Order: sequence, then structure tokens, then C-alpha cells
Amino acid sequence: MRVVSHRRGGAVICAMVLVAALVSVRAEAAGFVAREDGVDIQSGVVRMRVTAITDDMLRVRIAPSGDFGEDASWAVRSDWRTRSVKVSVAQAARQPGTVECRTANLIMRIQLEPLSLIVSDLAGHEITADSPLGAITTEGAGFSLRKILSESEHFFGLGDKVGRLDHRGQTFTNWNTDAYGFGESSDPLYKSIPFFVAAGGPAGSYGIFLDNTWRTWFDFGKRDPHTLAFGSTAGPIDYYVIYGPSTRHVIERYTDLTGKPPLPPLWELGFQQSRYSYMSADEVRSVARRLRSERIPTDVIWLDIDYQSHNRPFTTNPRTFPDMPALVSDLSRQDLRLVAITDLHIPRLLNQGYAPYETGVAGDHFVKRPDGSTYIGEVWPGPSAFPEFTRSVTRTWWGEQYRGFINAGIAGFWNDMNEPAVFNSPGKTMPLDNVHRIAEQGFTERAASHEEIHNIYGMLNTRATFEGMQRLRPDERPFVMTRASAAGGQRYAVTWTGDNSSTWNHLKLAITQMLNLGMSGFAYSGADVGGFEGTPSPDLLTKWIEVAAFTPIFRVHSANDSPHREPWLDGAEHTNIRRKFIEARYRLMPYLYALADENARTGVPLMRPLFYEFPESIESQCDAPTSFLLGAQLLIAPPPNFESPAAYPVCFPAGEWFDYWTGGKVVRSGPKAQTLTVTPALDRLPVFVRAGAILPQQPLVQSTAQIPHGVLSLDIYPGDECRGVIYADDGHSMAFLNQGYLRQVVRCSASRTGIVVNFDAREGQYRPWWQQIEIRVHQWNGTADARLDGHTVAAHAVPRSDTLSVRIDDPHGPSTLSISVR
Ligand code: GLC
Repeated sequence: MRVVSHRRGGAVICAMVLVAALVSVRAEAAGFVAREDGVDIQSGVVRMRVTAITDDMLRVRIAPSGDFGEDASWAVRSDWRTRSVKVSVAQAARQPGTVECRTANLIMRIQLEPLSLIVSDLAGHEITADSPLGAITTEGAGFSLRKILSESEHFFGLGDKVGRLDHRGQTFTNWNTDAYGFGESSDPLYKSIPFFVAAGGPAGSYGIFLDNTWRTWFDFGKRDPHTLAFGSTAGPIDYYVIYGPSTRHVIERYTDLTGKPPLPPLWELGFQQSRYSYMSADEVRSVARRLRSERIPTDVIWLDIDYQSHNRPFTTNPRTFPDMPALVSDLSRQDLRLVAITDLHIPRLLNQGYAPYETGVAGDHFVKRPDGSTYIGEVWPGPSAFPEFTRSVTRTWWGEQYRGFINAGIAGFWNDMNEPAVFNSPGKTMPLDNVHRIAEQGFTERAASHEEIHNIYGMLNTRATFEGMQRLRPDERPFVMTRASAAGGQRYAVTWTGDNSSTWNHLKLAITQMLNLGMSGFAYSGADVGGFEGTPSPDLLTKWIEVAAFTPIFRVHSANDSPHREPWLDGAEHTNIRRKFIEARYRLMPYLYALADENARTGVPLMRPLFYEFPESIESQCDAPTSFLLGAQLLIAPPPNFESPAAYPVCFPAGEWFDYWTGGKVVRSGPKAQTLTVTPALDRLPVFVRAGAILPQQPLVQSTAQIPHGVLSLDIYPGDECRGVIYADDGHSMAFLNQGYLRQVVRCSASRTGIVVNFDAREGQYRPWWQQIEIRVHQWNGTADARLDGHTVAAHAVPRSDTLSVRIDDPHGPSTLSISVR
């Protein structure tokens, strides 16, 4: 039974009838048709369809001319687009001309004329409301949507945007751009992710995702401080409202919709050394030797374009890189892997035996001009063709190009220049009237202009690479890094922030870029450590390494016309500091890997702004421009102005905090945010641990390929909600999908008489590298009695660090360790 209502001339007639489809409504009429999972609205010629995907997520489609067009998406997973829940519909009793429907968590109130939508929580707090000034305007194929911007709201996400972390008061355009030399106010940049999270509003956090591939734009109150506006130059009006009220929930839902990043190979979390370019296999070998002799823990060395013959993708220079499999095996003996660049432009080499071009032509795999000829643009290798990634057969052909490199043992691939970048051309990309020929499941086979496809082209490039790697090496987790991407691209590739510069300001920008990328689904991002372009001072490179040690992707990279950046090049003092931070990263690997596991299941980013875990810090402005959280437990607090030697305040959200480096308690309990003044020093990066954290750590290794010698340690920082997670698997295969993993939650509760540590039941069947666990309770004075499941175990006080250490055999199942004050 559904409710149908038609309004004519101001009178509302409401009837209960069975409806199979939208009843035809005379143009100019206004009315609604209730569906099981939403409501269809007609307002003049305009149609709107609201569908409850879940109880906290709505899809809104608006057809200004009455025709919704094709229902297909490159970003949203088809299983989520077709999902829906029941809504109850009621005509709003007191307000004629409105219709109200509800899910278990949301109320939608729709006014029929002029058309407007208000979404509230069940308590009636407005989550998002269309602007009374008019919700929708169209101009040609383009549209603008306007919503009320509440005074307390702050905006995040939108991918790799630069500037302040909070987008309020700013406007942005999404148009994938080779933004070489970008600066603080550059826009657009490399990626297009038309999704934002709004936090701090009356109903908590919510997000809006505009599922539109064209040139989209967002205005967070710049033109009018009371209006949030967004739109596109063309394409469908198709957006999702995702309700929190926590930011965490918004991102979980957004990544339900657009996909979670896959669990990475463990080595992705290691230190990575790159350069444009290491010019020969011998140079790579000598960098590898030096990394090992300097004892700089490292997992990966990267090959930039000069390993190729004449910059031609999928070739190698026979003189400088004569034997790739031999290079791979030499490096693997040193526990190092190779990642190689494979750009997407395919040079037009006629009758020269260059298979990528010849098979590409034979299979009709290249993008066309409107006259049907193949489009040719100039890039690194010279005049080149561009694969038609909107065709699934072309993506399969592209994936096949990796066979040789996969057979040679190359571990991962780097997809660059995929905005796509084209030299000497207007807008530095291909002509917008180039013709794509979509042939893809779920889409109508049709021609599409490059203007429509441009923003997703890079993502489809990475999808082809990722899926190709899956086919060629089905038992290994693929690693792809990309420069350009789009909403949903986190399913296929990690990303980096492109061609940044060697300045202190760029170090600061990188932090906000990575935080906003994390809130846009891209949990794995990095910035070229030291800056790509220019010359970092030794201090800048050192500080950048310190900070990057706590960010998801940790890769040093530099331009070919800038000095080398290998960690040892600035003398022993700098090398020692850099090594110390890289080592800290490797000791924290179990913590990082547990975050990766959490991310793969939930989409929650590794690197988080403070308000993510402590929503009240938005109000207290505790989110300093450079401070961030790694997971829920670690607070990294670099100086807000890196150049300044002046002491600065670190703001701590409410609660107690410990110094990660000393284990000492630095902030005592308090209901409000507190500050601590810190003096910057070259060899110091303030890192703090939240009370209640249980941090898993491991003995130092020189690569994640090495099995740690010794025990897994669990550092306990007593406090409320005391919790930690242990996660382990083989680090590279897909066996984790089939019980080949170990996940165990550890909890603790402290009292005046001691502390009880509970190991929950273990999930999965994986046998880890450790046989014993060392529990280190911080801020423990004196000795103690310890019992594991009733049996006495030895406890040692470490007075120097006020720590109590208890070593136990690895608890395979649920266990309880009771430690009491003696
Ligand atoms: C682009 C990339 C850069 C790379 C260079 C050569 O500029 O952004 O990282 O080193 O191309 O491939």
C-alpha cells in the first residue's frame, strides 16, 4: 500500500492506492508518488527522485527537463546503487504542498513548489536544507544547487585540494590537471573527488557526494557566506546525502558506496626511495647497497621513466637496464622490491615492432578525434596515442601489457601523467571534443566526449592496471600508484600529491592534502618527501622525513634537475636523525598494519584530523594546521610554522596524553582541551599517545620482508576505553580472504590495585612470527604480581622509564593477564 498525492491549484488530494510506477503527471502540475523506498516528485517539468539507499543515506536525482537520462555510474558500486530500504511517507499535515518521508534515521521534507528538500535527523535538527533563494538553477547543460550553510559548519574532503584544511569560505573546481609547480592557491589539481564532509553543524556530520564526471565545482560560502553551492557544467544531477552523525560513519558509508581501498601488501607501508631517475641498473644496485650499509630500513626502490628505451612504456633500455629479472633478484636478496613507472601514452611507432602500439591499433584501443582518426598528442616519448579505458576490452588489453614486467618480478606499478597530460596543447590535456566509445557493463554503448570522461580517465587507467595485475598474479595483492584519479579510485590505486616543491610551506600543504584525501576515500597518499622540484635544505629534508614517517605512503622522490635526496647525503648528523625516524616507523609496523586492516574493512583513513576522533576540537580549534592523528591513538604535532624556532603550543583534545618517545604522562586528565608548549628542535618531532591506547610494536627490521627477531610488544598507556588491535598475515598474498590472517582485540582496565589485560578470541588461522608477547605498562611505579589465566608470570619493573614489563607466551585464544600492585 502506498500513498499517492496530486496537488492541483493548491488543493491536496491524498489517496491510498497501489502504484507500480510513476503515474503520468500533466506538465505544470505538481505532485508526488510514493515508492516503497522513496518518493518521486513532479514540480512543473522538473522531476526529482529521492531514494533511501540505507536508513542514513539518500540518493537524490533531479531532472530539470523531466528526463533522468542514463542510470549508470563509474564511481558507485552497482550493488550499492541498487540497494534501498523502506521509507514511510506522509503528507505533512500542517503544510500543504509538502511531502514528508522517513527512514529509521532521517526525515525528508520536500516542498513541491518551488522544489526544495530538507533533510533532518529524527529530533528535527536540520542536516542539510535547500536554500530558500532557490535550490536549483540551470544554464545550458550546466546546473547549480544551493543549500543553506549553517554558521557552525566546516568542510573537508574534495581530494587533494590545497590551502587550509577546512574548505569553508573557499571555492574549488574539479578538473584533473597536470599541476606542475602548484602552490598554496592552485586549483584545480590532479584529482576530482566531488565529495565533502560537513562537520560541526546542528545535527553532527554529514557528507554530500555529487556523482557527476564533468567539470564540477563547489562553493563553501565564498560568494555568499550563508550558501553552500555546487554544480557542474553538464551531466546528471545525481547526488547522495550521507548522514553521520560522526565523521567516521560518513566516511564508512561513502566508502561503502564508492569502495574501500584493498588491503595493501605490507611493503607498501615501508620506506620507499625514488628519484627521477635512477639512470641504470648499476645505479639502482649502488643505492640499494648504500641503503643497507647505512642501515636505513627500506622496502622499495622506484624506477622513473629513464629505465625505458626512449621513454616508451613497457620497454627497458637494453644498455642501462639489460637484465631486469637479474636486477629484481639482486634486490630481493637485499629484501628490496622494484616499482616501475608505466605511463599511459603509447608512442606512435609504425612498423617498428613496438607491441603496445601495434596491438593497440589492431584492437582499436585508442581514443579518437571526431572525424574517426586516432588522436595523437605529444608526451615524453613523442607523438602518442591514448588508450580508450572506457572500454572494458581495452582495459583488458592494457592489463596484458604488464605480463613481461610481472614475469620479471617487478612488484608494483606507477601510473603517472594520467590526467591525461599532453604537452603543447590547450589546457595541457587532450581536446575536449575527442571521442570515447563507452563499452562497459552497466552502461549504454555510446560515444562520449572527452569533456565527460576527462575526470575519470586516470581512475580508469589505474583500474586497468590493477585488474591486469590481479589477472596476471592472482595470488598477490596489486600495488598501483597514480597521480590522477576520481571518486572511487581508492579501489585501484594509492596516490601521491604530484609535483610539489622543496619548501617548508609545501611540507605544511602536504599534511592538509593527505588529511583531506583520507576523508575522500583515499586512505593511502603520500607527498614527494623533500619536495619534487627545487633543493631542500638538509633541515627541510630531515624534518620532512620525520613527519612523513607517520603518514600513509612514505616515499622520497625528486626531479631530474634537482639534487639527489638519498638520506645519507647531508652528513652523519642528518643521516642519524633520519634513520631514527625511519626506524620508528618500522617498529610501529604492527600498529600501521592493523590500521590498514581496519581501513580495508571500514574505509576509515589512517591519517586523521583531530576532530575526526574528538569532534569537540572543531569548536575549541584544537586542530592546528599541521597536527594530525595516525589512527585513533597517536597525535603528531609538528610546528605550525616550520621555519620558526619559537616555542609553540600543542593542543590536546580532552583526556590524558603520554609522550610517545619517553612514555611519560604529559597531560593530566581534564574535561577540556589543554595545551603544552613545545620548543622545536631539528631532531625532535612531538608525538603523543592517547591514554587508553594499546600500541602493538615489533623489533627493528631493515625491510618488511625480514622476520623480526624477538617478541611482539604491546605498549599499554593506561586510561579509559583501553584497547588495541593485533593484526597479522603473510603480508602479500590473498590468503587473508581465506582464514590466512590473525586479528585479536586486546582490552585493559586499570584500577588503584592494578590492571587487567584481556585478550579476546582470535580471528583467523594465521600463525604469526612471534611466540611471545611483551606487555609494557607505562607509568607504573614499583613491582607487581602478574598472573596469566591464574598462573604466575614474571613481571619486571623498569624504573628508568616507569614501566612494568611482563612477558607471556602468545595467547592463541581468550586470555586474561592480571597485574596487581605489590
Ligand atoms: C611527472 C611526475 C613525476 C615524475 C616525472 C617523470 O612530473 O609527477 O613524479 O618524476 O613525471 O616521470
